[in-house]
Amino acid sequence: MKNDSKYTRKDFLKTAGSTALFAALGIGFYGCDTTDSINGTEVRPPAGGNDAIDITNNGNTITIDITKDSVSGLNQQGGWMLVRDATTLVVNVDGSTIRAFTSICTHAGCSTNWRFTDSRFECTCHGSRFDTGGSVVRGPATRDLQEFSVNRDGDLIVISK
Ligand code: FES
Repeated sequence: MKNDSKYTRKDFLKTAGSTALFAALGIGFYGCDTTDSINGTEVRPPAGGNDAIDITNNGNTITIDITKDSVSGLNQQGGWMLVRDATTLVVNVDGSTIRAFTSICTHAGCSTNWRFTDSRFECTCHGSRFDTGGSVVRGPATRDLQEFSVNRDGDLIVISK
């Protein structure tokens, strides 16, 4: 009599063989992410938005006046923006702490295809994900995003690259 629920030696070898094949090909499996999640809301400054955002390239400094309506979303937890001209991602991680990272993905260099959901930045070029500290949590990227220093000067967020 056949027992369909029995896990046979043959079944084991098939599974083990598949795992070994994926490992040999450099394909990894990633576990579930159980971190508390922040739902992101993208902040989009107006085109050429010098009224709302002042980008100083010579000193590699980005200054954002968060009293401006167009960027006030950065005051909220999960508020985030891509400063395209400065290849910089900015996010409010807890309602008061602002962090900033390069938007140049460490996988293959995409810099404009980002979204932020479930407390993760995702580069939609190939799906790499990074946590709110810039650490890789899903490949194909293997290196973390470079973080920039952020200081508050009254209503100004000052990011130094
Ligand atoms: Fe970002 Fe490939 S360039 S995932």
